[in-house]
Amino acid sequence: MRAASVSDYRELARRRLPNIFFEYIDGGSYAEVTLRRNVEDLEAIALRQRVMRDMTQLDMSVQTLGQTLKMPVGLAPVGMAGMYGRRGETQAIRAATAAGVPFCLSTVGVCSIEEVAATGTPPWFQLYMLKDRGYMRELLARAKAAGCPVLVFTVDLPLPGSRYRDIRSGFTGSTPLKAAMTQALDGITHPGWTWDVFVNGRPHTLGSVQAAVKEGRRVTDFLAWIARNFDRSVTWKDIDWVRENWEGPIVVKGVLDVEDARDVVRAGAQGLVVSNHGGRQLDGVRSSISVLPAIADAVGGDLDVFMDGGVRSGLDVLKALALGAKACFVGRAWAWALGAGGQPAIERMLDTLRAELAVAMTLTGCNNARDAGRTLLDNG
Ligand code: FNR
Repeated sequence: MRAASVSDYRELARRRLPNIFFEYIDGGSYAEVTLRRNVEDLEAIALRQRVMRDMTQLDMSVQTLGQTLKMPVGLAPVGMAGMYGRRGETQAIRAATAAGVPFCLSTVGVCSIEEVAATGTPPWFQLYMLKDRGYMRELLARAKAAGCPVLVFTVDLPLPGSRYRDIRSGFTGSTPLKAAMTQALDGITHPGWTWDVFVNGRPHTLGSVQAAVKEGRRVTDFLAWIARNFDRSVTWKDIDWVRENWEGPIVVKGVLDVEDARDVVRAGAQGLVVSNHGGRQLDGVRSSISVLPAIADAVGGDLDVFMDGGVRSGLDVLKALALGAKACFVGRAWAWALGAGGQPAIERMLDTLRAELAVAMTLTGCNNARDAGRTLLDNG
């Protein structure tokens, strides 16, 4: 099958990836209500068609945090991407760079900050608050030394949401990781998929888990590891701590409430991502797109507001822009493409988003992504 749309990459990834990884990428928490809302609420928004305007000069670029993005899209941090394609994070950043958009490396990536930066483009770096502040300081120093321009500080995962699919697939829960991984290796169909070692950290990232697996030691599962090492005591004051250790722009990811958004401004961050972690954390919360307008109205003048969750096409990108986002991020879209066909597939997926955005801008009469506003929508 030749992939024509983001959902086609999902289907290809489903066929090619070991089941535990496909389910891990695809799934959400609990009954997946929020995961569905993210997609359905975007679908339900109607664009307003306008015709007979000279649309020969389309400008999709946006300026944010000292950078120009060729289109208002970024690759969201996705943990363990190196499991979905060989050296997956380096494949993804190469595709992102070719498209002129940012790639954000997860704290729990397979490839190290240094390996990703060695592609020639330092990634944005995503930070989770771990209990071990010494290790965090080390990570921030490494991100700075590698030239990472932006720090994305994810605040909606003080503990992991319960993801039933991961329990059923054996990714987490009672089955030791080793058994699940062994099963995954047997079922492998992705050419070049290897059991890479998580190198981003010692001794507090998955590197230590995998080392233990290699040595045949029994390990607990990934999400149990998160539950042990992530810091639930975090408050807005901890942003001061982050700032003391990071001079560049900070984007707080995982905001769904207007009051929290105001706290992000007070904490002195330069951006926020309206996000429910792709419906993987607190199930039952509203979709990102439905809370975006109120947050953009409240704080859009003070910092850059981004959104993620449910973005599956260039049409969705324009809807997010119309409702106040500076740019939006895609998570599953690129993880599926990586699993489906590595860097070339991510490049084609980004081309698809660009082409769809071009049509959406042209037929809503929007010449310039920076001018996208609510007049692009048809509210009936
Ligand atoms: C994520 N997400 C995520 N976020 C983060 O800050 N750090 C991380 O390590 C991860 N890991 C991760 C793994 C996988 C497999 C997925 C699907 C998601 C959340 C991600 O950055 C983003 O918020 C959502 O993916 C956006 O929703 P969509 O685009 O997947 O619908």
